Amino acid sequence: MSDTTTLEINGKKHEFPLITGTENEVAIDIKSLRADTNGVITLDSGYKNTGSCKSAITFLDGEKGILRYRGYSIEELAEKADFLEVAYLLIFGELPTKEQNEKFHNDIKAQSLVDDDIRKIVDAFPKSAHPMGIISSLTSALTAFNPSSVNVNSEADMYNSVVRILGKFPVLVSWTLRKKQGLPLDYGDKQLGYVENILKMMFQEPNACYVQNNILVDTLDKLLILHADHEQNCSTSTVRIVGSSHAGLFASLSAGISALWGPLHGGANQAVLEMLEAIKEDGGDTKKYMAKAKDKNDPFRLMGFGHRVYKNFDPRAKILKKAADEVLGNLGIEDPILEIAKGLEKEALEDKYFVDRKLYPNVDFYSGIIYRAMGIPTDMFTVMFALGRLPGWIAQWREMRLNKEPIGRPRQLYIGATERSFTPVEER
Ligand code: ACO
Repeated sequence: MSDTTTLEINGKKHEFPLITGTENEVAIDIKSLRADTNGVITLDSGYKNTGSCKSAITFLDGEKGILRYRGYSIEELAEKADFLEVAYLLIFGELPTKEQNEKFHNDIKAQSLVDDDIRKIVDAFPKSAHPMGIISSLTSALTAFNPSSVNVNSEADMYNSVVRILGKFPVLVSWTLRKKQGLPLDYGDKQLGYVENILKMMFQEPNACYVQNNILVDTLDKLLILHADHEQNCSTSTVRIVGSSHAGLFASLSAGISALWGPLHGGANQAVLEMLEAIKEDGGDTKKYMAKAKDKNDPFRLMGFGHRVYKNFDPRAKILKKAADEVLGNLGIEDPILEIAKGLEKEALEDKYFVDRKLYPNVDFYSGIIYRAMGIPTDMFTVMFALGRLPGWIAQWREMRLNKEPIGRPRQLYIGATERSFTPVEER
């Protein structure tokens, strides 16, 4: 294949380099487009055809249903790795040795205290506050309590910020949940593994001895791994673009959490459960909701279906469907919601509307059912997604800083009024 391509504008030819990635994906490098063409830009709302960066972290092929972190398949990582190993892999590029793994975990544990004054902020939130609003505010507040985390001038500074947030974020997640439930805020137990500690911090009752459930630990570990990165999605692009102004890591992450909140992105896991509940309350008639989803005059969408990139199947949904069956079976839970979900999936996979548009269940379709079985309230689901996505956001932010990427600043095509003169109010 040629290594350049030509664009003709108003009879004049302009040549641009073609760049090929390690998986043979090809991009047109249009860096010089505007300068060469006297101001012409590209327009691509929703960035469906626009690469914002070169990245060596995550590869996904939406047509073939492939997802790999640093070259390792998501299937293999979900089966064999633990969440902290995956976090290390994403952030630093290689699986950690035993020593590196231990050091990483110890450094994170050393940073797992949160300034006790942050409790006052937690206390100030009304119980009705959405947990995503709380967690994004607390993440942003961490900057105020750790001002040095903003000045990132070396890899050592970056490492300190990374272990700080990995240590403190689970505490903030558990405080968000406990505040909602009226439980005392706790700091967990340094003796425990990372994921074990998260569950203990979330669920320990003040008047009972906490007993660890290994099925829950393994399931949460898997869920976090499956959510850990997904290349340049809405929240990750947000983290990179905020970070590109050299705002600190915590501020960039807080912005990413806000982006994740929306129901078209991470908020879909909450929306899926609410939809399944509504179908159950309405008598469980899945066909009625299939018809609503296909009706162009009805704004209803089948939540948990469709994906911007996966146009065949979402490999994470496949793993989670199996995990949902296993965890509910192991915990002895019979959930009518799971039956409604399976019914909807079966109908959608055979329905021309969904098949023609390549709409398949995505990761959020099954994650909510599992979180619910674990005893996590519906409005905390997206916070759990953020907990899993944390290493991916960090890895992408770190890559962006190490690559010395310029500040993100898209152009626009102006379609507003041309110049006109001001009319005083009494003449309007
Ligand atoms: N239910 C019904 N119809 C749908 C759905 C759905 N869930 N998703 C897409 N469609 C239809 C659209 O109406 C459109 O139909 P048309 O061509 O007749 O106009 C067509 O499929 C293409 O849809 P777009 O919105 O253009 O696809 P896009 O790639 O922009 O959106 C998205 C992807 C946002 C995920 C969309 O499928 C959706 O809204 N799904 C439901 C929300 C959801 O589950 N989000 C989680 C995504 S995964 C994640 O963020 C972790």
